[in-house]
Amino acid sequence: MSELVRARVQEHLVKLRLGHVADRLDALLSEAARAEPTYLDFLDELLRQEVQSKQTKRVAMGITIAHFPSVKTLEEFDFKFQPSVDAKLVRELATGRFVAQADNILLFGPPGVGKTHLAIGLGRAVVEAGHSVLFVSTTALLATLAQAESEGKLGDQLAYYGKPKLLIVDELGYLPFEKRSAHLLYQLVARRYEKGSLLVTTNQPVTQWGAVFGDEMTAAAILDRLLHHSHTMLIQGESYRLRQKKRAGLIAPPHQS
Ligand SMILES: Nc1ncnc2c1ncn2[C@@H]1O[C@H](COP(=O)(O)OP(=O)(O)OP(=O)(O)O)[C@@H](O)[C@H]1O
Ligand SMILES: [Mg+2]
Repeated sequence: MSELVRARVQEHLVKLRLGHVADRLDALLSEAARAEPTYLDFLDELLRQEVQSKQTKRVAMGITIAHFPSVKTLEEFDFKFQPSVDAKLVRELATGRFVAQADNILLFGPPGVGKTHLAIGLGRAVVEAGHSVLFVSTTALLATLAQAESEGKLGDQLAYYGKPKLLIVDELGYLPFEKRSAHLLYQLVARRYEKGSLLVTTNQPVTQWGAVFGDEMTAAAILDRLLHHSHTMLIQGESYRLRQKKRAGLIAPPHQS
């Protein structure tokens, strides 16, 4: 009889998609028989484990979908090395609240100061907070949009990039682009404006955006929308990439005056 009940419980757990408890039912029952928790504590433990398992799976799936180019976390970021990064602001952004308000983040700075690292770290934190994220380099983004346009499918592609709650656009302005690309980017930024967050990393000060975009008007229209509800960080300092080289004496330290 108890075997019948056990099988029925198993079946119900699967039907209710409580897969973790379904998989661990025997172990959980043995543990309960040993520790003799109260009914409430037993139920509490089952639900805790199921919720935790679902959260872990959801985060892993969200990280896969985000297509981050590498594994970087905010915990690994050495804030002491880059004091121009406002650690308090990064911690606040990591809660993901900015995504609920569709605010943007702009990270400015020269090579190697940790813009992409912070973008990925924040992206992961936003996934953990329960939002969808997609990471894309500016080059890949513009190539995909240009191809979609030439195939008459720009609407679909704009919808694809319009969907994630946070779209990370890395390396804006590293290569100058044509007017046509600037117009495509404008369409994306305008579509997401006040609806979904953008995180942009760039090595170009805003004064250079007109030159990068090949069109002052479009650059101004993009900037206006990006900056309206935004958190900006200007990272100054040494390249983390060159730090170790300098230590090894391969590169001379900056001249001290
Ligand atoms: N403060 C830091 N603490 C720990 N690692 C760092 C820090 N800053 C940068 N790094 C590491 O240094 C490398 C370069 O950083 P990153 O790619 O984020 O630079 P970037 O600002 O995006 O540069 P680029 O403009 O050339 O793309 C990465 O491996 C990154 O993890
Ligand atoms: Mg980078």
